[in-house]
Amino acid sequence: MDREAARLPQERTALRFRWQANLCAALGSPLYAGLLRHAADDLLAGGPTLAVLDGHFDDRGRTAPALRMLGGVHALVLTGQAGELAEFYPSAGGRADAGPGAGRAWPALLSVLAEQPEEVRRWLSHPPQTNEVGRGAALAGALCRLVAKADLPIRLVEVGASAGLNLRVDHFEITGGGQSFGPASSPVRLHGAWLGPAPAARKVEIVDRIGADIAPVDPLSEAGRLRLSSYVWADQIERFLRLRGAFELAAAIPAELRAEPASRTVGGIGLEPGTWTVLWHSIMRQYLEEEEAAALDAGIAALGAQATPSARFAHVSLEPVKGTDGTPVELVTWPGEKRRVLGTAPPHGIPVRWEG
Ligand SMILES: C[S@@+](CC[C@H](N)C(=O)[O-])C[C@H]1O[C@@H](n2cnc3c(N)ncnc32)[C@H](O)[C@@H]1O
Repeated sequence: MDREAARLPQERTALRFRWQANLCAALGSPLYAGLLRHAADDLLAGGPTLAVLDGHFDDRGRTAPALRMLGGVHALVLTGQAGELAEFYPSAGGRADAGPGAGRAWPALLSVLAEQPEEVRRWLSHPPQTNEVGRGAALAGALCRLVAKADLPIRLVEVGASAGLNLRVDHFEITGGGQSFGPASSPVRLHGAWLGPAPAARKVEIVDRIGADIAPVDPLSEAGRLRLSSYVWADQIERFLRLRGAFELAAAIPAELRAEPASRTVGGIGLEPGTWTVLWHSIMRQYLEEEEAAALDAGIAALGAQATPSARFAHVSLEPVKGTDGTPVELVTWPGEKRRVLGTAPPHGIPVRWEG
């Protein structure tokens, strides 16, 4: 009975791994789907996965232990420390295992877990930290709409910015829906990222770039870049290349990155005559405590109340809403508080399907 009770948390963890595997499959990562199913079996069979996860069986599901573990493994692959596994990781120049269930890649992952458990375990204590460059496609379209409304320079402020990569969105090349936004020479190319009646592409002038996050990642440091790269699913090469391109832009185009909660950022910015101040956030609201979310909303309302036809304010968001398909791209502008859903996007941002 005691032994059975002791096994329950492991079974719960195995179930979470299978749940995460299904999500990876649905979101286009057959490699991670296969590896996580094998890892769930290995965990229940008492293999190396069990030792790696020891002490983490009571971690809450939303802390995504499966992605933490694969993030640690990916870091070893990207730094050339994971032997044969790199052969199956497209992010490291390998070829994804095309066979059913990642059956050839699994023994190579098992060796990493068996031989380097402590290196992988180090990653289990940190939340996965991503910065999805594809989400910039939604922001760019919203900025085009703003400039069409009033052609003013933009002060761009992002909360929950992670590494602030999307603060350089005016330097991304984005095409689709009959439009072409940004320089064709950009290292970040989001082709086919706009569908439907896309906003007319405009030149947007960003004069200020301010990002803030409770746990910002420095995109200029090697450790920061490795951290962000490691949480990209290794067979999603397009995401990986976008991220690399965004690192290049981050090195060339300065942006401020503050370590602070969203409520403090919003409380500390004012509006300036002759500009749009644009507050933007993507896939971060779900992480806020109730009080913090209320303070963010109050800060947004206060900025809206200060807006004038010269000192304008806009709130652009890409945040999931329960019970709706697709993530809405919402734009609210002041003065006058005009609210519109401009379109919808999948969780990783592209393609954005614009509404008319
Ligand atoms: C899923 S990530 C999204 C990052 C980025 N917005 C993107 O779309 O790539 C959520 C981010 O929100 C940040 N975050 C969570 N709570 C926060 C808060 N109270 N204030 C500011 N950032 C917060 C996390 O540190 C994390 O970087």
